[in-house]
Amino acid sequence: MNKLVYVVIGIAIAIQFIRPDFKNLPVDDKVALNTDPKVMSILKTSCYDCHSSETKYPWYQNVAPVSWIMSDHIVRGRKALDFSNWANIDPKVKLLRLERAKQVVNNNMMPKHDYLMMHKNAVLDNSEKQTLVEFFDLQIIELGGTPNRLKELDK
Ligand code: HEC
Repeated sequence: MNKLVYVVIGIAIAIQFIRPDFKNLPVDDKVALNTDPKVMSILKTSCYDCHSSETKYPWYQNVAPVSWIMSDHIVRGRKALDFSNWANIDPKVKLLRLERAKQVVNNNMMPKHDYLMMHKNAVLDNSEKQTLVEFFDLQIIELGGTPNRLKELDK
């Protein structure tokens, strides 16, 4: 067999030993988001794998280099927005994230495309997007902010 094939197989095996540390921290019900069941169900299906401590790990979580990409998404996703830490997020930061959340949902930037390839059920249809955007707007109003959409209507 071609030497190169052995090299490639060797590398494929060697990288399996570099394993990310996948952990879900315990969820505190007093801090975690808890809202309308319809909203919760959409968020849990489409966002929670990267934006909460309730990540569901698939069998390929241990197969490098997919595991590295997954771990990167989860670490950065939780840092950007963690629904399991909802009550503790600084209100100013939360307002910004909520505005961004509306944008990323409307522009199909979230859930991430590579994730959707493996999680077809996480694709948002229009009515689910609308439910999420309405929820984000309500949260913005609760925090004393004015959703951009309403700001434009004021003009
Ligand atoms: C596969 C993992 C993954 C899924 C699923 C996912 N996200 Fe993200 N999200 C990320 C990562 C990683 C970031 C960090 C910034 C980046 O890479 O775009 C992020 C960033 C964000 C941000 C901050 C963006 C900014 O620029 O401030 C928001 C808001 C967000 N996601 C909302 C959502 C919502 C809402 C859902 C579900 C509809 C969702 N995400 C699903 C991985 C994910």
